[in-house]
Amino acid sequence: MEWLILSLLVTMASSVDSFLDHEYSRTALGDNIDKASVKLLREAYLSSENTNVVTSPLGVLLLLSLYSSGTQGKTRDEITQLLHVTDYKEMLDSYSGLSKEYASINSSYLSLANKIYVASGCGLNDEFFRTATTYNTEVASINFHNVDNAAHIINQWANEKLKGLIKDPVSKSSLDKDALVALFNVIYFKGHWHVPFQASLTEDKDFHVNRTLTVKKRMMHLKKSLFFNADDELGAKMIELPYQEPGFRMVVILPNEVDGLPEVLEKVAQKGLLDNVFALSPARRKVNLYLPKFDIKSSLDFTQILPKLGVKGIFSGGAHGIVKERSVAISKIFQEAAVNVDEEGAKAGAFTGAVIVPLSTRYKSPPPMDFIVDHPFLFTILHQDVIVFLGTFTH
Ligand SMILES: *[C@@H]1O[C@H](CO)[C@@H](O)[C@H](O)[C@H]1NC(C)=O
Ligand SMILES: *[C@@H]1O[C@H](CO)[C@@H](O)[C@H](O)[C@H]1NC(C)=O
Repeated sequence: MEWLILSLLVTMASSVDSFLDHEYSRTALGDNIDKASVKLLREAYLSSENTNVVTSPLGVLLLLSLYSSGTQGKTRDEITQLLHVTDYKEMLDSYSGLSKEYASINSSYLSLANKIYVASGCGLNDEFFRTATTYNTEVASINFHNVDNAAHIINQWANEKLKGLIKDPVSKSSLDKDALVALFNVIYFKGHWHVPFQASLTEDKDFHVNRTLTVKKRMMHLKKSLFFNADDELGAKMIELPYQEPGFRMVVILPNEVDGLPEVLEKVAQKGLLDNVFALSPARRKVNLYLPKFDIKSSLDFTQILPKLGVKGIFSGGAHGIVKERSVAISKIFQEAAVNVDEEGAKAGAFTGAVIVPLSTRYKSPPPMDFIVDHPFLFTILHQDVIVFLGTFTH
């Protein structure tokens, strides 16, 4: 933490048009999460009636990697394939390391929690319990037969973690009387822009839902030096908006075409996003940015999504290493996620000024480049090289 602050000060002192220093290194775990996350988003988008989608694939991947430790054979292979695992032990270490790291992040802006409920009467396998502990995952026993009470207990846990952003995510119908195991993940993030939007500049502007339907959206405005990248092969351009919260940034990926999102999403699902994220570099001129305010909540049923990505065995039985003397299957995996993007960050204070200083007037600055997010786009929130949230905004 102290190191980050130090490097900010150095940046501030050494350059005229300076950017938030973010020499993040690229890790194998970050790459694997990227490859799996974009596939999960693609399926979530295709299976969702509401194509405003936000998800934290990371939560699902964490739970799957943990669960895999209690499985063998084909069931485990299906998981490791989705997770792009080459070395199993290394995978467990890196995901458990990440769980611990995220648990240590200030919970006022990031909270990531995993919980596994096991039907009462089932004793957990010792080794699985130990692994769960290294993943910072709570394990509790619950009586699924009393569905009302089980939902109440799970909601109490989730509500506390989600700080009211999503209330009572679990309904009776999302549980199952005969369940033996249920996995839950909640993720909460509330960031403040490093470069604030001025609320007074927010105005209603056209947003093209598709080629024929145009609606008005509240659009935030900013004219600043930002990281930018255009990828003609992908058919999209992107900008980065850093948060004050150390290591966090949002990247907005805007298809070149009004109706380009499905095609861009297909390409991204094949190659991931990190190549593009790491290709972002300071735009050589100011960016004239318009970005809609948005507030998305998604309830995603991964019980439906995972089999489409080849992960089937976890639902049909055969995990011997989860509870003692019994073979179990997962009944449900679902996720509630929310993201709220607005001008907040205007209160950024002194730190904000340190990030980007105005271009010197001694140089004649080139005209700003327009980046008008007025049609369906993709966004991601990363922590260093790890995709924490991923979503699409279409209407
Ligand atoms: C966590 O963040 C909040 C809001 O940014 C801040 O007020 C608080 O002091 C932080 N807590 C710690 C332990 O750093
Ligand atoms: C545009 O979106 C509207 C609303 O979803 C839909 O009714 C219409 O058919 C769409 N038009 C095209 C060309 O896709």
